[in-house]
Amino acid sequence: MTTNNTAGQDSTAHDGRTQGTTERDAAAGERAPVALVGLGPMGVALGEALLRRGHPLTVWNRTPGRAGALVARGARPARTVAEAVAAAPVTVVCLKDYATTHEVLGAADGALRGRTLVNLASGTPAEAREAVDRAAAHGAEYLDGAIMVPPPLVGQPGAVFLYSGAQEPFDRHRAVLESMGDPRHLGADPGLAVLYNTALLEMMYTTMNGFLHAAALVGSAGVTAARFSELALGWFMPVILDASFAQQAPALDLGHYPGDEGTLEMNLNALEHIARTSEEQGVHTAQPRLLVEIAEAAVARGHGADNYLAVFEVLRRAAPTA
Ligand SMILES: NC(=O)c1ccc[n+]([C@@H]2O[C@H](COP(=O)([O-])OP(=O)(O)OC[C@H]3O[C@@H](n4cnc5c(N)ncnc54)[C@H](OP(=O)(O)O)[C@@H]3O)[C@@H](O)[C@H]2O)c1
Repeated sequence: MTTNNTAGQDSTAHDGRTQGTTERDAAAGERAPVALVGLGPMGVALGEALLRRGHPLTVWNRTPGRAGALVARGARPARTVAEAVAAAPVTVVCLKDYATTHEVLGAADGALRGRTLVNLASGTPAEAREAVDRAAAHGAEYLDGAIMVPPPLVGQPGAVFLYSGAQEPFDRHRAVLESMGDPRHLGADPGLAVLYNTALLEMMYTTMNGFLHAAALVGSAGVTAARFSELALGWFMPVILDASFAQQAPALDLGHYPGDEGTLEMNLNALEHIARTSEEQGVHTAQPRLLVEIAEAAVARGHGADNYLAVFEVLRRAAPTA
């Protein structure tokens, strides 16, 4: 999921598992080297998971300072994206979107021959198919992927990563993919991973907005989101809402939406992908466009660097009249 929706995780269990994984993997022998391009909140989480599993890791990011924590834990910083790609048979790319991915990898064209690219950016099926052609034109294999968990759950048991494209590179690099999560290959059509991802994200966002709008409605009578979540969960669980809403509700009451694990800007990107994919696939677009409009209004109110829940600041007020 791309919301920074980290609720539902138990930090003690999280830390415990991480420690266990580190000890297991120290004994596991040599791991394949990996290059990682893109060190936003998700890229850093991927890098941490790969280092935990013992992969020699070379990293590159437009803003070099973001590599600091990974370098401190043993990653090698590359001076250029071409140097990063040349350092390993497989490059995991986790940038904002496909346009950024093409722009960044354009500087590594000469280094791509014989390498495998694993692109984990959000996008549309047409963008994924185009990316395969671009990679092939430079002699690279390409796997398209989509991450179904927020950064803190990357590398943890049950962290589902969707992949599509040729089966052979998926099988060959399976050990690397398993170091980041639980890899599921959906089929040879490279557009499938982002299509599944988009469909699941739309379910997530519409459910979240349903809860947030309901919280805004009862909030108009002075009921806190925390109090409302108790009744909402008792009534709706386990089919529609999940326990994460109860954990997030106090943040709504405080108007506290820290975006360190994923920003509203990043989620707006995902919503735009849902709208564009709906258009590409020839289905109705009004619902995703409404989600985009609400998120854009929250960004316009200055919440772009906050997390997705900041759309509550829009939902809890009357829409401005034209
Ligand atoms: N965070 C989540 O919860 C989550 C969950 C699932 C999937 N994803 C997907 O993972 C991908 C990365 O997400 P994220 O959370 O790490 O943050 P993001 O804000 O979507 O992407 C940040 C990354 O993109 C780079 N970037 C942006 N514009 C660039 C440009 N013009 N040129 C070069 N690099 C540029 C940033 O470099 P700088 O550091 O230099 O700005 C940084 O490496 C996105 O496609 C997102 O949809 C995220």
